[in-house]
Amino acid sequence: MPDHPDPALLEQLKDHLKYYAETGIDRFDPKAVSGALRLAASLRGERKSRSRPLRQSAPSTQTSLFAESVPASVRDSSLEEVRNDLGDCQRCKLCRDRTHIVFGAGHPQARLVFVGEGPGVEEDRQGLPFVGRAGQLLTRMIEAIQMRRDEVYICNVVKCRPPGNRTPQEDEVTACSPFLERQLAVLQPEVICCLGLTAAQTLLQVRTPIGRLRGKIHSFRGAQLVATYHPAYLLRNPPAKREVWEDLKRIRSLLSSS
Ligand code: URA
Repeated sequence: MPDHPDPALLEQLKDHLKYYAETGIDRFDPKAVSGALRLAASLRGERKSRSRPLRQSAPSTQTSLFAESVPASVRDSSLEEVRNDLGDCQRCKLCRDRTHIVFGAGHPQARLVFVGEGPGVEEDRQGLPFVGRAGQLLTRMIEAIQMRRDEVYICNVVKCRPPGNRTPQEDEVTACSPFLERQLAVLQPEVICCLGLTAAQTLLQVRTPIGRLRGKIHSFRGAQLVATYHPAYLLRNPPAKREVWEDLKRIRSLLSSS
């Protein structure tokens, strides 16, 4: 251990801890210590680069835009570390009625991430996202663009089921969305597909209706973001599938051209 810590190292650690504080982490549990040790190793240049079998390399614009707001050390952490930091979350009232936290599932190097609103009854029972009727439709949507569910990553804005499947309230979104941000920072997808209003408004930080957010390509920290209707809405309004098909084709062509 050197007598005088490297000032650049201290600066990076400060950024990392500041980011943790901003995302609601105010204490460390033993599992998180392993993350800190890995961080220290990475800062000493001992960390091997991550392999990304599903894509060649991240576009350079993506990396630099992510770097603007998320410290490199946070980007280089893992989904497991984010899950450990979430812990047995009690940050909002949704914890009271949940059976399972539904963190997210899928390929850790996915090029495409789907973000829904929050778990429903079946997701709460199984601890997995989009496994109910809306989930079956999502699987068909994924397959319609020649992808498999296990190639993409699927998560939600809130990780616990809102009672009666109501829309998550502002305090619940505020408590939970930093973990979504961190999942996306780790995943660094090329394309994010927001399923429904809550996901689109949360990530884009706007109040615009979904009908005006869809049909365009937005940007979120260097990823291209497409908003579309939620599969649960499609189950109630099948004619809207035509517009969703247009959105899915847009996603397919974004992935094909990168
Ligand atoms: N609806 C969502 O928004 N997310 C799920 O995981 C399931 C249904």
